[in-house]
Amino acid sequence: MSEALSQTTITDQKEFFYDGLPMITETDLGGRITFVNRKFTEMSGYAREELLGRPHSIIRHPDMPAACFSLMWQTLHDGRSWQGYVKNCRKDGNFYWVIVHVTPKLLSDQMVGYIAVRKKPELPAIGRIKELYAKAKQLEEEGDYLGAKALVGDTARIDAQSFPQEEYVTYGANALKVM
Ligand SMILES: Cc1cc2nc3c(=O)[nH]c(=O)nc-3n(C[C@H](O)[C@H](O)[C@H](O)COP(=O)(O)O)c2cc1C
Repeated sequence: MSEALSQTTITDQKEFFYDGLPMITETDLGGRITFVNRKFTEMSGYAREELLGRPHSIIRHPDMPAACFSLMWQTLHDGRSWQGYVKNCRKDGNFYWVIVHVTPKLLSDQMVGYIAVRKKPELPAIGRIKELYAKAKQLEEEGDYLGAKALVGDTARIDAQSFPQEEYVTYGANALKVM
């Protein structure tokens, strides 16, 4: 059982809706959380101290196919940005959907970590994504990891530019370059 699941009981009973206000996290190169803003603590239900230093998978929901994160990390390691629909688990076991946009954080052209901002998901799209992720999970259970990757790959965007650049620039000050 992952560290995230050992923290909480999955009830899947109640959906929380993200209002689209800035929700930001940063990690080190290994995916351990180094920064959370207030909106993220609110949505996750954890206190800041409970999140800092923990793997970002602390909020992973078991409905998420592994293929999504595998593609996310592959893209980040290539120095590119990734954007996709993610269902996250709150500390209380309830859940919320977001579009996560993750990008490498650069300091003097060296990758020093990753930064994620979120966008409000399109409600009609979530229905389709749910079906697709369920199919991808099924393929993973059958051992067809390539099939699962191919399925979810189409839902994600690589090098997506749909987030306003100023969101990164004002937040990250000098340390951050937009990919
Ligand atoms: C900046 C950043 C933000 C991330 N945001 C999330 C997130 O919101 N939800 C999530 O489940 N995983 C997120 N991840 C991916 C996790 O690090 C992890 O790969 C994923 O939860 C799968 O965990 P597992 O491989 O331990 O099962 C993020 C990673 C990075 C680098």
